[in-house]
Amino acid sequence: MSKKIVIGNWKMNPASLKEAEKLFTETVKMLSDVKKTEVVICSPFLYLEKLKKISKKISLGAQNIFWEEVGAYTGEVSGDMVYNIGAKYVILGHSERRNFFGGGENNEIVNKKIKSAIKSGLIPIICVGENVRDENHEYLNFVKKQIEECFNGISKNSISKIIIAYEPVWAIGKGAYPATPEEFREMNIFIRKILSDKFGLSNIEGVRIIYGGSVDEKNALDFIIEGKADGFLPGRASLNPKKFSKIVKICETLNK
Ligand code: 13P
Repeated sequence: MSKKIVIGNWKMNPASLKEAEKLFTETVKMLSDVKKTEVVICSPFLYLEKLKKISKKISLGAQNIFWEEVGAYTGEVSGDMVYNIGAKYVILGHSERRNFFGGGENNEIVNKKIKSAIKSGLIPIICVGENVRDENHEYLNFVKKQIEECFNGISKNSISKIIIAYEPVWAIGKGAYPATPEEFREMNIFIRKILSDKFGLSNIEGVRIIYGGSVDEKNALDFIIEGKADGFLPGRASLNPKKFSKIVKICETLNK
């Protein structure tokens, strides 16, 4: 069994560096006795350099990168830049970036970003998930297409380092309900089957498939026990050090 990982997606929060430092410091403090679980915070780009200096205990990640290395791409940030500042991970293909206000990223763009992240030495966290669950189970084809297109041309060797976050869009954000652990379990098996068909069986064991979408300290345990989740990608709960640390500690007690 691979080491569990909890990745906090701060999204576009908080509003100032001062608040970011406070939030990060409090989170680090609450996790002082955690040894077996990998903890990552994906903060806005602007805060990464400063947070890096506060603690090495929590790894850092970005929430996006552009696929080119350097050049005339106004407003973009490259994988090399993120890597060179000391971050280790990058979230790619989050549904909030796939929708219109995030620039409408499609699978082809996410694919380019994955390749660029790997080249820069970053570990990509790829978000997949359907917008709705239809009775005809079309959502399974939707997720299959996301995985197949996002992973086009990725080498077998790289696959085992990538983290896949199953985040059904309907389960994300305020007022939404999380998926059930059974729903996650089914998707976990389904995603592994798609990868195994695409890349060959032997490499799939090491791929970590985590759950995101209204994760909190109350539902995390069931996702691991019943859903066989390898970890979590909490949004709102990562902005609350108490809740976030409870999620991490649940993983810690179950990590070997
Ligand atoms: P919430 O945990 O706030 O539902 O957000 C999930 C998410 O989008 C993490 O990437």
